[in-house]
Amino acid sequence: MKLKRWLAASAVVLATAAVAGTPATASHPVDPAQQSLRTLGLRHDLYIGTAVDMAALADTADPQYRATVSREFSTVTAENVMKWESLEPTRGTYNWAPADELIAFAKRNNQRVRGHVLVWQNQLPAWLTDGVNDGSIDAAELRQILRDHITTVVKHFKGKIWQWDVVNEAVSDPWDSPPTLHYKGFWAEHLGDGYIADAFRWARAADPGALLFYNDYNIEAFGSGDPADDKTQFVFDMAKALLRDGVPIDGIGSQGHLGTQYGNYDTFQVAAALKRFAGLGLATAFTEVDVRSQMTAGVQAGDSNEINPRLQASAGNYSVLLRACLADRHCLSFTVWGFTDKHSWVPTWFTDPPEGLATIYDENYQPKRAYQEMKADLIYSGRPYVLPRIPQKPRR
Ligand code: G3I
Repeated sequence: MKLKRWLAASAVVLATAAVAGTPATASHPVDPAQQSLRTLGLRHDLYIGTAVDMAALADTADPQYRATVSREFSTVTAENVMKWESLEPTRGTYNWAPADELIAFAKRNNQRVRGHVLVWQNQLPAWLTDGVNDGSIDAAELRQILRDHITTVVKHFKGKIWQWDVVNEAVSDPWDSPPTLHYKGFWAEHLGDGYIADAFRWARAADPGALLFYNDYNIEAFGSGDPADDKTQFVFDMAKALLRDGVPIDGIGSQGHLGTQYGNYDTFQVAAALKRFAGLGLATAFTEVDVRSQMTAGVQAGDSNEINPRLQASAGNYSVLLRACLADRHCLSFTVWGFTDKHSWVPTWFTDPPEGLATIYDENYQPKRAYQEMKADLIYSGRPYVLPRIPQKPRR
């Protein structure tokens, strides 16, 4: 296909510049552009991460996937295998093996692990949703089931998870009904929004050492400032109330799923949002960054006039988020939601119109402009080019 040939040609140029570092000598100091994202990030104590597809990681016919995960990233997140439907497919019976494999892989590669996700309305096991829908599980039992799941999972991974996404995507969007922002989804419907504070307290009790995050999308910058239609303001007010009530929340995860067809934000807007959350005494992290583009007929036909602007716009948006994170020393990590277009959720999810080109490597593991711009941001940010992080301690 024309698109593949075009991408392959331009990637050769970039690849030569990206191979991991040669030993530094006085006469041959290391060229930072030769270094990996993880090495360049750790100059700022900033952990650069990726979501990991465990099937791709185990695929011996696709060795570049595993090699790139270990070379480029200092933190990993399970894309799916730590979700409830995967961990507890039948009630009380846990399938730990795929998640344990990721923990073991991370240990071998000296990577930190972000736990994703304890409480979310998606990817719940059928035994749970069917039980609630047919009334065989009432609210009191549902609350106990939630407590048991959080306690069991967090205890199983105790000391092995750096940051937990305790609650994910609990807030509605302006396009939902009613449009006025509110707590949405299975858990709010059946337990009320009090489940959020409960979940953080149960997670803290199970692992006093893990940083506990609330994670959501479309909270990269503030809008009107009215929580009725500004999701970032709603989440800010929610976090402030949780802290007032002594709930052990340590951080806010901003997913960062962007599209080049949207207006998005400039670095100052994103940095301002991070600064306001840090002002509450919270850490921040970008947890699921990808920047997709519409796969128009021209793009699919390999028309560089259509492809170039999208790849450059994608790189620009990655850079906005990374520079804002670098500038705020309470921003502890920057995770991409998959690093190669070969293994990205975007094309299977956004089909009408089709979208793609969302990650930092193409389908042939060739680095894209986004990868290079992330490196440049890591190399050229801060006094002389280093901005140490401010550690976050778990709240009691
Ligand atoms: O495991 C089954 C497999 O047995 C079956 O053959 C296959 C065919 O349908 O489906 C497989 O399950 C898929 C699962 O990913 C594992 O690959 C589900 O259908 C598919 O819906 C699921 O998609 C995941 C999606 O969350 C589900 O909501 C994506 O991979 C994952 O990237 C995505 O991640 C979410 C974050 O957790 C939260 N924030 C948004 C982000 C993107 O949606």
